[in-house]
Amino acid sequence: MKPIKGYSKLSKDAKIEWLINNYFEEPEKALEMLKSYWHNEADIQKLHDEFIENTLTNFYLPYGVAPNFLINGKMYCMPLAIEESSVVAAAAKAANFWVTRGGFKSTVLYTKKIGHVHFIYNGLPNDLSSFFEEIKNDFIKGTNHITKNMKTRGGGILDIKLNNKTNEEPGYYQIEANFETCDSMGANFINSLLEEFASILKFKISESSLIDKKIQIVMCILSNYTPECLVRCEVSCKVEELNEDKDILPDEFAEKFLRAIRIAEIEPYRAVTHNKGIMNGIDSVILATGNDFRAVEACAHAYASRNGKYSSLTHAEVKNGIFKFWLDIPLSLGTVGGITTLHPMVKFSHELLGKPNATELMQITATAGLAQNFSAIRSLVTTGIQKGHMKMHLLNILNQLEATEEEKAKIVEYFKDKVPSHHAAVDIFCKMRGNASLDEVGKKEI
Ligand code: MEV
Repeated sequence: MKPIKGYSKLSKDAKIEWLINNYFEEPEKALEMLKSYWHNEADIQKLHDEFIENTLTNFYLPYGVAPNFLINGKMYCMPLAIEESSVVAAAAKAANFWVTRGGFKSTVLYTKKIGHVHFIYNGLPNDLSSFFEEIKNDFIKGTNHITKNMKTRGGGILDIKLNNKTNEEPGYYQIEANFETCDSMGANFINSLLEEFASILKFKISESSLIDKKIQIVMCILSNYTPECLVRCEVSCKVEELNEDKDILPDEFAEKFLRAIRIAEIEPYRAVTHNKGIMNGIDSVILATGNDFRAVEACAHAYASRNGKYSSLTHAEVKNGIFKFWLDIPLSLGTVGGITTLHPMVKFSHELLGKPNATELMQITATAGLAQNFSAIRSLVTTGIQKGHMKMHLLNILNQLEATEEEKAKIVEYFKDKVPSHHAAVDIFCKMRGNASLDEVGKKEI
């Protein structure tokens, strides 16, 4: 197939026509499928079309809620956008467990954002550093037009410094700046400032007496690694209150729970899965509230490696008979800007959460992560993960088999007191249809 030129300039209909005719065996079916996901209100569809380039249709994810989240004394119903079967159920379970044990305490420790102008300078380092000190205030003065509004909200540039990185790369320096961006995630604010810093630097060097006036601005960009934009969320209760499970005594539960956390602290293979479970909760809330889950993911995993080895984001202890479990996670989130005030479902989530500011949203989101991890570890050290997971996944298997509603109800009932497995679900489905295998039922292996 020849490359297509100017695809983005085509009308939406033309884009779809090109696509379905070139990539699909049954273009009409593909068209129908794409159209079935269009929103029936033209205004809302237009809004979605304009979020990105080359929008053809919408991609739905389930949007669920987990009620009964007691966070810092306030009751929340947590919005979660996620495809994985058991995540909402796990969140709800943890919320119900902790609501009668004092709830979640979530604290924002810092809210600093950071960015860099990366540049190359081959003159004398001392000349550059004394020159930088001389012009430091010009970066603040010369960017007043950008920071004016943010300053009225209590934010702006916190500090600026020069980093000499020449021992890592010849000639490599950075202007490093910290920012407070209040309720916005701040990416555009920070990047605009950094680009302005670069222009100021270039201009000041050009009119200076520095012998080497040649600098190369390589790039200006915020860093998504924000270890100083940090939330701590914790739960605690007396060990004897860990008594929900009939099959395990509270002491043994606490001991196994602490061991599981310790394993995630010391063993990267386990830590990755452990943290993935935390991100199940975090990403779902981030998606539902219109924030950037890729930035948060990248940052969380870098933070998990900050001591030179990938490790758990959660920790636990028992002291004086008190079980304490907590999560430290950097979360750079916004409640204004981006799609937060555009996407109807995002607006819905913000209203559901009582229109939180960025600090509150950080607290709520961290709670979803800790809750998710609590439920996962609780299942892992007691029943095993498959019981709850497969119970939720069972409907996916039955839907893949195109089971009828009656068959689904019967099979769900059958597995009520058993751990479902893929094999067992297929087996009972075939038997119900009076056959021994999927082949005989006339269905492909799934
Ligand atoms: C699955 O999405 C997440 C878990 O694997 C997390 C964990 O193992 O802690 C259940």
